[in-house]
Amino acid sequence: MIKSLSQYKEDYRKSVEDPAEFWSEYSKSFFWRKEPGNILSWNFEDPDVKWFFDGKLNITENIFERNKKNENDTAIIWEPNDPNEKNKELSYSQLFKQVCSFANVLKALGVKKGDRVIIYLPMIPEAAISMLACARIGAVHSVVFAGFSAKSLSDRINDCKAKVVVTSDGNYRGNKTIPVKDVVDEALKTSSSVKSVLTIKRTNSKIQMVEGRDYWYQDLIKSVKNYCAAEMMDSEDLLFILYTSGSTGKPKGVVHTCGGYMIYSQYSFENIFQYERGDTYWCTADVGWITGHSYIVYGPLLSGAKTIMFEGVPNYPTPSRFWDVIDKYDVNQFYTAPTAIRALQSYGDKYVDGYEFRSLKVIGSVGEPINEEAWKWYYEKVGMRKCPLVDTWWQTETGGIMISPIPNVIDCKPTYATLPLPGIQPILLDNDGNEIKENNREGNLCIKFPWPSILRTTYGDHKRCKETYFSTFKGYYFTGDGAKRDDNGMYRILGRVDDVINVSGHRIGTAEVEDAINQDVNVVESAVVGYPHEIKGQGIFAFVIINNLKSGYDYSSSIRLSVTKHIGPIAKPDNILIVPGLPKTRSGKIMRRILRKISSKEFDNFGDTSTLLNPEIIDLITSLYKDKINK
Ligand code: WT7
Repeated sequence: MIKSLSQYKEDYRKSVEDPAEFWSEYSKSFFWRKEPGNILSWNFEDPDVKWFFDGKLNITENIFERNKKNENDTAIIWEPNDPNEKNKELSYSQLFKQVCSFANVLKALGVKKGDRVIIYLPMIPEAAISMLACARIGAVHSVVFAGFSAKSLSDRINDCKAKVVVTSDGNYRGNKTIPVKDVVDEALKTSSSVKSVLTIKRTNSKIQMVEGRDYWYQDLIKSVKNYCAAEMMDSEDLLFILYTSGSTGKPKGVVHTCGGYMIYSQYSFENIFQYERGDTYWCTADVGWITGHSYIVYGPLLSGAKTIMFEGVPNYPTPSRFWDVIDKYDVNQFYTAPTAIRALQSYGDKYVDGYEFRSLKVIGSVGEPINEEAWKWYYEKVGMRKCPLVDTWWQTETGGIMISPIPNVIDCKPTYATLPLPGIQPILLDNDGNEIKENNREGNLCIKFPWPSILRTTYGDHKRCKETYFSTFKGYYFTGDGAKRDDNGMYRILGRVDDVINVSGHRIGTAEVEDAINQDVNVVESAVVGYPHEIKGQGIFAFVIINNLKSGYDYSSSIRLSVTKHIGPIAKPDNILIVPGLPKTRSGKIMRRILRKISSKEFDNFGDTSTLLNPEIIDLITSLYKDKINK
C-alpha cells in the first residue's frame, strides 16, 4: 500500500518505466492456478490488449480460498431499506457457501462457462452473491440497474443473448415497492434467448410464474450442495459485461476480463481507501453500475474487507439516513456521489449537525465533477475537516479509479481529481491531436498506455469499440472527457466533451433520449442537450417539434412517459420546450452548441452561425424559452 509521497513517486516512476514488471510484481500476491507467461501485449490500433496472458485463475478463489485464514471476518453487512427491518451480516465463510450454492443452482439451470446471465436485482446480498456465483463457474454476468425499463432490459438481454435472468419478486426503494418481476416478464416478450428466470423472494409481492421458465431461488437452493469447485479461467476470459450509453446508438456492452480486472480492482481499492483489516467500508452506489462492481463487490472482497450493501435511498425515512448508517456501523471509509451530497445539503444542515463521524478516516466522491460548494460542505460537515476527500475520476470502461488523491499521501484540492494512480498515463490533446504540454489549458483527456482493467471490447461489436475509444486520437484511448492540469500536474475533470449527459452521476446519451422521445406519435423531431442543474449536476433539456400542434394538450407528460417506457425514469427530460424548428446546418446537422447555450439561459454570443440554414430560428427558440421562464 502506498503510504508516502516518495513511495507514490517511486511506484509511479516504476509503473511507467517498466509497466509489465510493475504489475507482474503486484500480481504475485494473487492465487494463480497457472502463472501467466506473458504480462502484457497490446496495440491501440486494432485495439488488442492482453494482460497476464495464459495465466489461469478464478477471481472467487482469490476472494475466498486465498483469504481462508480470515474466513470468519465479516464480508458483507446488508442494511435494508427499512431501518426497522433486521440487517444481515455474512462472514467470508458464510458468503462462500452462499456463492457456491448459487453457483450450483445456476449449473442446475444449465448455465455453463461463457454463458451470459443477466442480473436485475435490488441491493440485496443476492446481487453480490449471484455475481460471484457466475464468476465461480465462468459464466459472464451482466448486471442491469433495476430502474431500467422493460425495453432497455430486453435490448441488453438480446445484445448478449443471455440464457438466464436473475430477479426478485419486488424491490423496496424508500416508501415504494417496485414490481421488477413484471418488468422482466414484459422484457421477455421480445427476448427469446432466455431459458430460465430465477426469482428471489424479497417483497412477497404477487407475481406471475411461468411454468417451465420461472423458478423461485428459495426452492432450488434446497436441493444443491454448498460447495462448488471453481472453473479455471484464462486471464483474458470474460468476467462481465456492463452496458453503458455513448453519444450514438444503443448502449454498448463494455467487456472486462478476469485477470487484469482482478488485479486493478484490488490495487485501486487498497490504495484509494487505505483499507486496514477491521475497518468498515461503505460505498452507497448500486451494483448496477461499475462503481458497485469494483468498489462494493470485487475490490473490497478481494482485499478481505468488510463492505456495506445498502438497499435504500439517502432520504428515507429521513435525510439523515446516510449519517445514521455511518454511526450505526462506525464506518471508516465512505464513498458516495456529488448528486447525493447536493441533495442532502439542500435539506438543510439540521439533518447532519450533531453527528460526530469519529470513525471516518476517508470520504470519497465519484460519478461527476463535484462543485466547490458541495466539496466544502462534504469536507466540513461529514469529513469534519479531518478526513481526506478523494475525488475519484474513472469510467465504466476503465474498470477502476484512474485519477484520485491517495489519502494522506497526495493533497486534496477542491474540484480536482489530482494525480493519476501508478500505471495510469494521462495526456491532454487539443482537437487536432497535438499534445498540450503547457499547464492550465483545457484539452481532451486521453490515456497513452494500457492499464490492467482497460475495457477489452464492446460485446459483439469490436469495431464499435475501436471507433468510440481508439479512433478520435490515433494511438490513444479517448475518455470523452475534457480536463486541465495545474502547475503541480494535478488534473481537474471538466465533464464530457461528447454528446453524453451526466445526470446524477448516470451517463445518458442524447441520441438515446431523442430516440425515445421520437417514439411518441406526436413528435416530429427532437434535440436533447444537458444543462446545469443544481442537484443533478446536469439536467436533460429537450427541444421538440410537434406534429399538428394543438393547444391545451399535455405533450410534456406524453413525452416523459415515452422516455420512461423506452429507457427508464432516470432519463426523463427535466425541461421540455416545444419549438417550430431546430437550428440546422446546410448538411442537416443540428447545431447543438446553440441549444446548449439557450438551455443554460445564455441568450447571446452564439458564435459563428454562418453555416446555419435557418439562423432566424435562434431568436424564435430564445423568445419561446424566455416566455416559458417568465410564466
Ligand atoms: C463518466 C463515466 C466511474 C464510476 C461512475 C460513473 C464522469 C466520473 C468523475 C469525477 C468528474 C467524473 C466522467 C466520466 N465522472 N467520475 N470524479 N469527476 N467527472 O461511471 O457511467 O462510466 O461515467 O463520469 O464524465 O467519463 P460512468
